Amino acid sequence: MTASTRDLQERGLGATLRRDAWWVAPALTALVLGGFGVYATWAAWQGAHYEWGPYLSPFYSPLLRPSWWLLSPAFLILVFPLGFRLTCYYYRKAYYRAFFLDPAGCSVGEARHDYKGETRFPFILQNVHRFFMYAAVVFIFILGYDVFLALRWPVNGVLPDGAMAPGPTELGIGVGTLVMALNVVLLAGYTFGCHSLRHLVGGGVDCFSCARGGRTRYRLWRGVSALNGNHMAWAWCSLFSVALTDVYIRLCAMGVITDLRIL
Ligand code: FES
Repeated sequence: MTASTRDLQERGLGATLRRDAWWVAPALTALVLGGFGVYATWAAWQGAHYEWGPYLSPFYSPLLRPSWWLLSPAFLILVFPLGFRLTCYYYRKAYYRAFFLDPAGCSVGEARHDYKGETRFPFILQNVHRFFMYAAVVFIFILGYDVFLALRWPVNGVLPDGAMAPGPTELGIGVGTLVMALNVVLLAGYTFGCHSLRHLVGGGVDCFSCARGGRTRYRLWRGVSALNGNHMAWAWCSLFSVALTDVYIRLCAMGVITDLRIL
């Protein structure tokens, strides 16, 4: 008697008729997301080496250092970018497969068969994604302002401890400026292609030409939709760029590498 795909799914975790290497994608996702989680936690705990000259790590921006806060300043702001990624529609699919194996892949058996969607605690909290999206949009402008500041170099140079020398500033570009700018571009591509943002600008409208501000909304919806089509690619590229930007600034601050001044 032959087994149907449904039979195999109900037989248990990993049962499948698929002959391709379906497990590679969830395994890679677990490796990369897990590695990012470990690195980001470590970098946030450090509370040091997050700025050098006019550069500031994205893990610490905006930089808030109130006297009553005794932990790393990263913990004051990381809930926003972290919450945005954790509740992202794409990442949900990715980490449900990678970490919960629920399901591990299309047409692959699961360990449990009582899926209730995201209608119960704790997964119902995923519905706050829209609110994290509002914060993420604000963060794009904050990180953009950091790039602007990374164009302003002290005339008297950067001190040996990485601080800006007192005195006037001038226009300048270092490799770190470009790294930070690329990071903002990739984060903007990810943020402005968000499914929630797409719904916000174009959802609930049957007829753009009949709706108030319809022409503008249509243009915004087209733009968000164009980015949304490659949301997965933006998600991964921006994840790497955030980590690499922090690594670059951290290595400059620790004196392991020397930033190259281009202009
Ligand atoms: Fe991915 Fe909103 S759905 S960022």
